Amino acid sequence: MSGKVVLAYSGGLDTSIAIKWIKEHYNLDVIAVNIDVGIEYDPAAVRQKALDTGAIKAVVINAREEFVTDFIFPTLQADAVYEGWYPLATALARPLIARLLVKIARQEGASALAHGSTGKGNDQVRFEIAFNTLAPDLKVIAPAREWGMTRAEAINYARKHGIPVPVTAASPYSIDANLWGRANECGVLEDPWVEPPADAFAWTRPIEETPDEPRYVEVSFEKGIPVALDGQKVDGVSLIQKLNQVAGEHGVGRIDHVENRLVGIKSREVYETPAATVLLQAHRALEELTLSKEQLRFQKKVATEYADLTYNGLWFSRFRQDLAAYVKSSQQFVSGVVRLKLSKGNCITAGRKSPFSLYSHGLATYDKGDEFDQSAAPGFIHIWGLATRNQAQVQGPDNP
Ligand code: ARG
Repeated sequence: MSGKVVLAYSGGLDTSIAIKWIKEHYNLDVIAVNIDVGIEYDPAAVRQKALDTGAIKAVVINAREEFVTDFIFPTLQADAVYEGWYPLATALARPLIARLLVKIARQEGASALAHGSTGKGNDQVRFEIAFNTLAPDLKVIAPAREWGMTRAEAINYARKHGIPVPVTAASPYSIDANLWGRANECGVLEDPWVEPPADAFAWTRPIEETPDEPRYVEVSFEKGIPVALDGQKVDGVSLIQKLNQVAGEHGVGRIDHVENRLVGIKSREVYETPAATVLLQAHRALEELTLSKEQLRFQKKVATEYADLTYNGLWFSRFRQDLAAYVKSSQQFVSGVVRLKLSKGNCITAGRKSPFSLYSHGLATYDKGDEFDQSAAPGFIHIWGLATRNQAQVQGPDNP
């Protein structure tokens, strides 16, 4: 085999080794593509490292805005959270990376795509379904699944080939991070009984070290999309970055989740998602104000489906597009402002308002100005209880 392969390159140990390994085992020239999904790092250094390791070409793409617009915000509008805990940060970045890799592969006339995921996680599934869906003609190579090296052997392989072993390789953790959150697994975290040690966290302060003074933030939404922070218009990327910092300082967004992977394994994941935690809560708070009871109830089902399909690698399915169309329509009046209080690891809804609020003070109040016609209640109760009364008379009440 000869030709070119486009590799999803993080700059870490596995994808660095992959450059050499692919050349050795497939005789393909590697084009390393690094996608910037919003974490502070040195893109020039990553690019240079790929070239030094033997890539014939290395590309860094700043995809922050695309990530927010096409992946994060639609998921926020859907309230999608996997198994009630995980805001899907890693799961959302995979289809974005896959889409950009396919684009580069077409530009470069490559015959294959490659990723650095192992054979027992979700990410291999997400990458490969996306690759196969968007570019069924391209071959897929998964070095870390194929090479069968232990961590120690991989480090040896790197040393033998003059690949610098990053300090992070010495860390016991396996970390993946982007704008929407940081995921941490491996090391002592593999025992669900062990409390995550302080060094497992990087974005959030421990409760003991958070400020005593609570911090209020106001998030403004237009049609379910956050557009301003504390009254200041701001682009999506900056808004998320700012919230990660501010909420992280107050210890908001730590999640400890024993999660069901698609491949059948239970996995203990420690997440830090300050911005996602705040925005998901604010968004739901605004939906409570602006959606009807039926819309809210249906939204829960949609959220579960949306989260599952995203987690399970089906982002580019027709089903997701159909759900997204419903979600978009449902967000038409989800505009307004939510005030949240960040304090000691908690994010508390402290106020909400909307020009489209369905909350009616006149109907809800027990004070003067009550517009609710209480004299109509007996008739309502009579009809509402009719079927239950009738059944009880025929079959006996359910409370003998
Ligand atoms: N379990 C999460 C998922 O499948 C996050 C995985 C992140 N990877 C990591 N090395 N921590 O989406």
